[in-house]
Amino acid sequence: MTGHPDYWNQLYEGQVRPGWDMAKATPVLGEALAHATAAGLAPGASVVVPGCGYGHDAAELAALGYRVTGLDFAPLALQGALARYGDRIAWSPADWFSPQLGPWDAIFDHTCFAAMAPARRTEYVEACARHLAPGGLWMAVLFHDVQGRPAPPHAMSLETCRDLASPRFDILHLAHAATGHPRRVGREFLLVARRRQD
Ligand SMILES: C[S@@+](CC[C@H](N)C(=O)[O-])C[C@H]1O[C@@H](n2cnc3c(N)ncnc32)[C@H](O)[C@@H]1O
Repeated sequence: MTGHPDYWNQLYEGQVRPGWDMAKATPVLGEALAHATAAGLAPGASVVVPGCGYGHDAAELAALGYRVTGLDFAPLALQGALARYGDRIAWSPADWFSPQLGPWDAIFDHTCFAAMAPARRTEYVEACARHLAPGGLWMAVLFHDVQGRPAPPHAMSLETCRDLASPRFDILHLAHAATGHPRRVGREFLLVARRRQD
């Protein structure tokens, strides 16, 4: 169900803001970029935001000088992103599980991996590896605590995240987020990982 664009599209339908929309980029983006910059990512690099929703994180990355693709398979998400931030960002209607996309230098993932059904997590990690250039960076903001709310998002332990990413990525950073939106503070963690050269 959550794997189909219609599920998400109807959540955007008729709502000024769906429940997850923070109306601005996540504060964890700055923390992620600090780690990615230390690992060699610099403005001018190509970055994809899978499940970009209304595009706030994509727009912040573009403002910082990255070449950004905001990707979302829900048409109303991209319609909202285009209305808010215009066409200076490439908006892609692709499904993240598509066989071939990119490749990009980096992924910034905020509540897309977290929204995946646990049964699809391994497949999702494979898609991240496939869509990155060798040595590319995957940044992901995830929830270790959803306070008992119905999924999505799904809670994930840091250990599970490490186990999922390790076959294809070297973990550069995996820790509770130091910052966060007031509604989420203390419940998120950040992964920064490098795709192995294989
Ligand atoms: C919880 S929303 C988060 C949106 C945005 N990242 C935000 O924080 O406001 C998850 C988004 O992922 C998109 N999505 C889910 N599965 C997807 C897939 N397989 N391919 C592309 N987009 C997907 C949905 O359409 C939805 O817009």
